[in-house]
Amino acid sequence: MHRAGEPHPYQGPAEHVGEGYRSAFRDWRRMTDSRATHARAVISRDVGRYCFTPELVPAAMHAIVRERGEGAVEHVLARHLFAHLNFTDALENEVVTPVAYMIARGQTGLRFTDAMIADARKIAVDEMHHALLVSDLALEISRLTGYSAPAPRRPEFLDGLDRLRSEAGAEFTPLIMLFFAVVSETLITATLTRVPGDDRVIGAVRLALREHAEDEARHHAYFAEALMRCWSQLTARQRAIVGPLLPRFITAFLAPSTADVVRSLTDAGFGPAEVSRIIEESYAEHAVAALVRGNAEATIRQMRRAGVFDDARTADAFASAAFCEHGGR
Ligand SMILES: [Fe+2]
Ligand SMILES: [Fe+2]
Repeated sequence: MHRAGEPHPYQGPAEHVGEGYRSAFRDWRRMTDSRATHARAVISRDVGRYCFTPELVPAAMHAIVRERGEGAVEHVLARHLFAHLNFTDALENEVVTPVAYMIARGQTGLRFTDAMIADARKIAVDEMHHALLVSDLALEISRLTGYSAPAPRRPEFLDGLDRLRSEAGAEFTPLIMLFFAVVSETLITATLTRVPGDDRVIGAVRLALREHAEDEARHHAYFAEALMRCWSQLTARQRAIVGPLLPRFITAFLAPSTADVVRSLTDAGFGPAEVSRIIEESYAEHAVAALVRGNAEATIRQMRRAGVFDDARTADAFASAAFCEHGGR
């Protein structure tokens, strides 16, 4: 039997290193060994009151909600968490895992090193684990707080992605999926960086988001490298199609869903006039642009490094994106 601290009896094939790619997954088999235990563990029940960091949820910070009392703030934050978990579940299952599998199977039309191909399968496993983690967490939070987890629904960003795919044509679908995954995986959102350290937030949430953030740090390194390699392999025609979509991917991924906010507030007992006012005042175009810009910094930095802004059409598309003050140049 395998004991903690001892080398795992099956270490898998030797890890590939080479062609300038340094794998961030060298310890991966040992980490996944402990993961199964964690997935079944009873999640910590320490007593944060909130399901999310209030400062990351403009609706919860609005005076109308705060004046209604702590119960209303808690309710809106719980609905926000459920929306985040639903979003993550769909992203992992419908975008990142299929893309990682496409890379592993050599179906992107682009070249990856052997080591990156091997790591892509590990990323697919990680993402399926995250999907499991978030669906477990929704049930756990529902039990702990008494707010019932809503039925899964298709997040709007997937409809947006469908529209972009059909505009570009089937020929570009693999590249669009790949670059959408690159954008989502190189973003470092405040959700993953701030919530785990916020002791006002329920322990189960912090624990799950911390675990997710640790895996995503590795994925970030992988997809930053993938961006460098893939962008340089694109033909001029491919760049002309994919490049201008990049700022739209960022917006689709990061702009808060108004429909989710409406559902949260309505569920928390706010009437239509109050909901409209909160949305108008907390999700105005400039506020959303600032929020998107703040969360997109890491991705834009990686894009600049990869030479994405050297393509004139792409640079123009960024320049006219609402979230880019200076066009990312
Ligand atoms: Fe993930
Ligand atoms: Fe990931």
